Amino acid sequence: MSEDKSPEAATAAAPVIAVDGPAASGKGTIARALARHFNLPHMDTGLLYRAVALNLFRFGGDPGNEFEAVRACDLSSVSLDDPDLRSEVVGSIASRISAYPAVRDRLRDRQRAFASQSGGAVLDGRDIGTIIAPEADVKLFVTASVEVRARRRVAELLSRGMPAHIEDVVIDLKARDARDSGRSIAPLTQAPDALLLDTSALDLDEAVAAAIAMVEERLG
Ligand code: CDP
Repeated sequence: MSEDKSPEAATAAAPVIAVDGPAASGKGTIARALARHFNLPHMDTGLLYRAVALNLFRFGGDPGNEFEAVRACDLSSVSLDDPDLRSEVVGSIASRISAYPAVRDRLRDRQRAFASQSGGAVLDGRDIGTIIAPEADVKLFVTASVEVRARRRVAELLSRGMPAHIEDVVIDLKARDARDSGRSIAPLTQAPDALLLDTSALDLDEAVAAAIAMVEERLG
């Protein structure tokens, strides 16, 4: 690979922004807003795990079986626009199959390729700042209390016409947090150089404004 010493090469390259955090913390909305604001392509990496989960569910596979989960990693027959990807059943299966190292391996290259494209990128997930893009220019770790996250998730599900009960959602979020943080491979954790954004007391616009300000400050 030749080194480009032209004046253009000296201008700052488009940034890579990593947004990690637990379920329903607002990281997806924040990541999409950052992508729009900084004019960068965006990848919701949770959708890849959800697509594997939906695939597995459709062919009647067992989420407790790693071999079957790996077979479901062929995503050629799943559209990332499928509304079923957003259901709680699929989210719950995604949380289980994402703990398998072989599943994470299968999805890694696609995410890394997205993160290293020349035009920069915003990716959101659980391990973007730690595993997928450890060299990201800015890393945000977005969090909120479980009660706030549960209320947001219920509102989101109801707005999509999906049934939701706050008590069930709290139980599910706690179980998902424990699985995401407790798994031995790529656990959900704040990278040492990530900026913490707690959105518990912020509405959507405030959270987005805070995220933009943090990124601008970090990028100088
Ligand atoms: O926000 P929510 O947890 O509902 O969903 P998501 O971000 O779409 O992710 C679905 C599941 O995939 C999560 O519960 C995680 O266990 C897993 N995931 C992961 O392990 N690594 C990622 N980079 C993204 C998602």
